[in-house]
Formats: sequence, structure tokens, C-alpha cells
Amino acid sequence: MGNNCIAIVLAAGEGKRMKSPVPKTVHRLAGKALCEWVIDSAAQATGTKPVLVIGTDAEKFTAIFSDRVLYAVQEKPLGSGHAVMAAKEYLTGEGYAIVVAGDMPLIRTQTLKALADKAINEKLGACLLSTIIENPTGYGRILRDNNGVERIVEHNDATDEQRKITEINLSVYCFHIPLLLDALDNLNNENAQHEYYLTDCIEYLTGEGHRVEAVVLEDSSEGLGVNDRVQLSEAAKLLRKRINNEIMLNGATLIDPDNIYIDSNVTVEQDAVIYPGVTLEGTTVIKEGAVIYPGSRICDSIIGCGTTVQNSVILQSSVGNNSTIGPYAYLRPKSIIGNGCRVGDFVEVKNAQLKDGAKVSHLSYIGDGEIGEKSNIGCGVVFVNYDGKKKSKTIVGKNSFVGCNVNLVAPVTVGDGAYIAAGSTVTADVEPDSLCVARCRQRIISGWAKRRREE
Ligand code: UD1
Ligand code: MG
Repeated sequence: MGNNCIAIVLAAGEGKRMKSPVPKTVHRLAGKALCEWVIDSAAQATGTKPVLVIGTDAEKFTAIFSDRVLYAVQEKPLGSGHAVMAAKEYLTGEGYAIVVAGDMPLIRTQTLKALADKAINEKLGACLLSTIIENPTGYGRILRDNNGVERIVEHNDATDEQRKITEINLSVYCFHIPLLLDALDNLNNENAQHEYYLTDCIEYLTGEGHRVEAVVLEDSSEGLGVNDRVQLSEAAKLLRKRINNEIMLNGATLIDPDNIYIDSNVTVEQDAVIYPGVTLEGTTVIKEGAVIYPGSRICDSIIGCGTTVQNSVILQSSVGNNSTIGPYAYLRPKSIIGNGCRVGDFVEVKNAQLKDGAKVSHLSYIGDGEIGEKSNIGCGVVFVNYDGKKKSKTIVGKNSFVGCNVNLVAPVTVGDGAYIAAGSTVTADVEPDSLCVARCRQRIISGWAKRRREE
């Protein structure tokens, strides 16, 4: 198709039925904004930056798309035809333009390609996407004659007889650009909604003797439009099914895929196993053979080969190979866990590195620090990283042993091979291979308790 075809994505409608201050097409599902799904399909189909027609909320779109799209602004939502007019500056030359509503996230690249190919190869004035559904209430109906599609009539403007037609318009078109411009110039708003309907361009073109055809979608769910939160959840479910099926066909096991929530940019490698109730977000990568047990949320993180994660939250972090995380661990941003490590129950790690073989098995806080290879951190250890003003760093060397209930008051360094006695509060550096005891010596007062009882 090359540069012969551009795409225009319409996203300037008000979306009132979402009952939200956020523009409808910015609402997220399966890891992307509603219109991002459409934009990505359009960009792949045409090989060029799509034009996004937006309303007055420009910043909400530029924050997501920056320069991935070209922008056109429709100052007032006066109808879908009026929205395309707002993109006029991009409608130049002799090529074709795909026009697609920004609220149909299931639309596939190959469908847009098929539509454009048909328009271009058969030299049509326009080609549109239709489907046949049982209950067509609310949709524009396709009126056909011997030459193909004749026109579209909107539900509100249709006669009872026309309302019986079950072939509906899905709001996806490919127009010959010069003819589209001509048709837009001749639109009016003399209809039930007093809007400039894009659909009226079809009648104008056929009236001028140009051919219009339809590609009929077999699977009408691909044409699902999102107008409210119920449809948002339906579309999200269908998209997740697509994502999950692809992951399974690539060789990973999803146990009960209906209850696993994986965003579109997540990678799950072969022989990974994902249990129900798991949410994988952003750019997360689950490597070969990793197992993610129920109740885990992993965002923008890498989980290494053969590692297991149980009931844990992992954010913007990485875990090496053959490590175990959880149950109930919390890896906050910039946690770097090596190979063969253990981060056990009720352990929180933040901006800290565990080198290969390091273990923090229970009830600890590891903030702003580093733990050397094969070191063992006992139960209930706290990296005291914050003095109320600034954060400081704790470094524990390799092969060292930090006993239970130790406070390491940062900035502080524990040398390689050192041993810290349980219950110590360490405020000064500990030299390698030494023992550090930083607590009061135990004292016994014989008979004290008995005397008190008898008093
Ligand atoms: C539209 C079609 C209808 C079709 C249905 C499929 C028209 C007149 N009708 O109806 O034939 O069956 O889609 O879902 O087009 N938009 C703007 N600016 C506006 C108005 C709309 O950008 O002023 C955008 C919307 O954001 C949306 C698209 O155009 O992405 C369609 O508009 P919408 O109001 O949803 O049209 P429908 O009534 O659904
Ligand atoms: Mg709509």
C-alpha cells in the first residue's frame, strides 16, 4: 500500500455514556488506551503515521501519543463528517484514506488492509466495513442496489422497513481522497441529529456515479464499538483472550486464561506457567520456565528463567534465574535480584540489589542497599535508610551473615564474610571477617520475679 494510503482515526466525540471527565478513547483496556489499539492497527496497515482527530482535550492525547500520530482538532463535535473535515490539511493527492472510529479497539490490521486493498485494486470511490447482526438497533443500515452499496441510513433517520435490515455500518471506510473531499464539501446536517454525517458521503459518491462496495466482517465482535463501561469490559475481555491465546500458542501455559490479565506489551516465554488471578502489566517479560502463582501483580519487570513468584507485587524491577520470590514479597522500583536468590515472605525491597545467591527469607526491609553474593539476611532485618531528611545506602559484602532483628543504620558498610549478632543496631562500618555485637549484654537477677509475686 505504501504511501498511497493514510489513516484518519476519529476520537473527538464526547463519549457522554462513559460518565467520566476523561475522554472516552483515552480510557484504558488490556494495557493500551482505547484509541491506541485503533491507531496501532492503522499505523501497521498503512505504514504511515495516522492522523488523530481530537476535540479540545489535546493534552490528554499528546501525553500518550506524543509524535506517534499527526493531530487534527475538531473544535466542536458536529458529527463524524465534520470530524473528517477537521483533518482536511492531510487529505491531499490522489491516494486513499482509511477513516476509522477511535472507539473500536478490536479492529485488526489485516481487516484495514483488506478494506484498502479492495478500494485501491477495484478503483472504488469508497469501500466500507459492514457486518450482519441480529439486533441492529442504533446502527446505520447498509442499503444495497445492483451496483453494490447505495447508501447508509442512520437508525434515527430510517423507516420501519429500513430498520429491518441487519447489515450494519461499522464506521470503518477507505475513500479515494479527491472524491472524499468533494463529498465532504457537499455534506449538510439536515437529519434527525442535526449532525454532519460521514455516512452521507456514500450516497453522494454513488449519486455521482462512483462505485462503493463493502467488506463484510464474518466475526462481528471485531466491530464492537465502546460507548459505555459495559462495552469497555466486553472489549477488554475479547482483547485479553486474543493476547492470552497468542501466548499459549507460543508455548506458555496459562491455567484458566479467563482469569489471567496480561497487557498487550507483555512477553511470556515458552514453558512459563501462569496461574489464575495474576496481572502482568506494561513491558513485563516472564522468561522460560518461570512460574507465577496466584495473586501476583508484576509491572514493567523481568522475571528470569525458572524463577517462581508467589502472591507478590513486583514493580519496575528485575529478578534473575532460578530465584524464589514470596509468598507476599513486595519488590518496589529498582530492585535488582540476582540468580539463585530468595526473597521470602513479608520482605520489602526498594532500590536495592541482591547479588547471586543472596537470601532475605522473612520479614525484612531492604531499602537503598546492596547485598553481596551468598550473604544471608536473617529474619526481621531493617535497612534504616531514612533519617527524616535524606536517604542513605547500606552495603553488605559477600558471604556475610546478618542475624535476626538487626538494624543497619545507613550509611553503613558490612565487610565480606562478617557476622552480625542478632538484635544488633549497627551504626558504624563492620570490617571483613569480624563479628559485630552491638547490643546490651544480658543480665540475670536471680529470684527477682518470685520476690515480686510474693510482695
Ligand atoms: C456511527 C455511524 C453509524 C455506525 C456506527 C458504528 C455516523 C453518522 N454513523 O454512529 O452508521 O453504525 O458509528 O458504531 O457516522 N466523532 C468525532 N466527532 C464528532 C462525532 C463523532 O470525532 O463530532 C467520532 C467519535 O469519536 C467516534 C466516531 O466519530 O469515534 C463515530 O461517532 P459516534 O457518535 O460514536 O457515531 P455513532 O452514533 O456510533
Ligand atoms: Mg459510536
